[in-house]
Amino acid sequence: MCGIIGYTGNRNALEVILEGLKRLEYRGYDSVGIAVGNHEIRVYKRRGSVSALESDIRKTSLSGTIGIGHTRWATHGEPSDRNAHPFLDCTGRFALVHNGIIENYQEIKEELRSKGHSFTSDTDTEVIVHLIEDLYEGDILKAVMGAVSRLDGSFAIVVMAAGERRLIGVRKESPLVIGLGEGENFLASDVPAFLKYTNRAVFLQDGDIAVITANSWKVLNFGGEEVKREVTDIPWNVESAEKGGFKHFMLKEIFEQPYAIMNTLRGTSSLYLRTVDENDFERIKIVACGTSYHAGMIGKYVFEEMLRIPVDVDVASEFRYRERIREDAIYVFITQSGETADTLAAARIARRMGHRTIAITNVIGSSITREVDEVIYTNAGPEIGVAATKSFTTQIVAIYRLAQHIAEVRGLAAHDDLWTELRLLPRLVSNVLQRHSEIEDIARTLKTAQNMFYIGRNISYPTALEGALKMKEISYIHAEGYPAGELKHGPLALLTPKTPVVALVPPDRTYMKMLGNVKEVAARGAPVIGVGAEGDEDLIKYVDRTIYVPRTRPIFYPVPISVALQLLAYYTADMRGCEIDKPRNLAKSVTVE
Ligand code: F6R
Repeated sequence: MCGIIGYTGNRNALEVILEGLKRLEYRGYDSVGIAVGNHEIRVYKRRGSVSALESDIRKTSLSGTIGIGHTRWATHGEPSDRNAHPFLDCTGRFALVHNGIIENYQEIKEELRSKGHSFTSDTDTEVIVHLIEDLYEGDILKAVMGAVSRLDGSFAIVVMAAGERRLIGVRKESPLVIGLGEGENFLASDVPAFLKYTNRAVFLQDGDIAVITANSWKVLNFGGEEVKREVTDIPWNVESAEKGGFKHFMLKEIFEQPYAIMNTLRGTSSLYLRTVDENDFERIKIVACGTSYHAGMIGKYVFEEMLRIPVDVDVASEFRYRERIREDAIYVFITQSGETADTLAAARIARRMGHRTIAITNVIGSSITREVDEVIYTNAGPEIGVAATKSFTTQIVAIYRLAQHIAEVRGLAAHDDLWTELRLLPRLVSNVLQRHSEIEDIARTLKTAQNMFYIGRNISYPTALEGALKMKEISYIHAEGYPAGELKHGPLALLTPKTPVVALVPPDRTYMKMLGNVKEVAARGAPVIGVGAEGDEDLIKYVDRTIYVPRTRPIFYPVPISVALQLLAYYTADMRGCEIDKPRNLAKSVTVE
């Protein structure tokens, strides 16, 4: 989830690109770079902010009317000057910026190394520009087309070549937009990057190659045939453009989940973890806070079911001060930010006790990455809304991948169909997102609620906890998550016709028990919103409103159901006029104990 801007026109490209980068930086990035030059390309890049780069550049005589720029959110290689984009080929003739993940970069890198290419970074991106150099026979467009046909993964790239007046952009599963000006054109990952200059845009589709000059633009497919694309007049101001036209960052991030999950799947497609590959262990201990703790609880069900290994899950602030008994265990710390003080302290303790440790995090170079032996990145991209959404579902996906990996290492019964179905998750999530208006309609019934319950069993129990947390933190409705079987041990006393209950009833081994619980709460007059699998006609008989998610394996339901519950919380909070992206009293990163 990096930011890209490319410019060709008559203005000073440096100014346009710096302005564009500032417009992209609001999401928080770790490094930045720029390449400008009509005849000779000059690159300036560094770790840090756009303003830091700007003060470096102001000391130079960089000029030109064509260029590209990039703000980086690290995926391969830590944030550093040398890993910042743009990258040049060996001859310095081509410069390239990239957003996404190249899965087969190692293989290409080896091949190019054997042909004499040398690399300066740890990134997957750098191979692309060398591949272009390798394939170049006088036509940059042909070389780019040849290069992208070799790449597996997701990418939005923009390429410039010394002496050329055109920029070439390619989109595959990562956004790229052309901005159309008068005597100038732009290529950017996001509209805010060029909105100061024009509001006319062409949104590229997957498999599109854009060729722009100052006065022309065209779009080709990977086969080189020209394709028609609509010009859109963007009605947004800069503020709404930053949110991709969504009303809040949270909603934008909820809608980004298919892409974020795809990135997690890609980034974890071939794990190598000494911690599990070269060590025997009898238990898995998971430690985390808040939403990440809920992902950990889901992990308990996943690992125990798939691997038959006992799993303990601890809230980090509790783990720190409990008696700890040394066991033959590996530790998994889950933290979106990688900066949560309690989780960091817990990781230090586990290490001091001599345990092997793994972190699941979204932020490369964050503090947790220095406290553990190995890291699995979720690659969800920056999350600005305080309430965790895409970071949560991608944590669950990273857990599935870890389970898959341990199963393979241990030679456990092959679950091939299961892992094939895992790859369908982005599609399932898109399907839930398409039902947003139905969910919004149900949210209307919750607008005036003061108390709510979320109930589930088995793996849907932590999903219920997370659903309730989302509702309470952004709508300020008191919402409690409960294991459905616990209701009669106390909470049933609270149920009245004014206490809506969200019941998670996917078809799994607890389905009939859940239906029993639904009848139990309905008998107390509580309005019930049932969340179940598409086509479950029985559920409708017992609940007041139904949210359907597509059918999948029981173990995967937490992902589509959580997306539905995020939308439910979002629309309810919005109808109550709450400040959704910055709920009261909360911070995105909890760096104090
Ligand atoms: C809730 C939320 C928090 C975080 C918690 C841990 O929506 O975002 O509960 O999950 O503060 O944060 P990380 O995952 O950064 O350690």
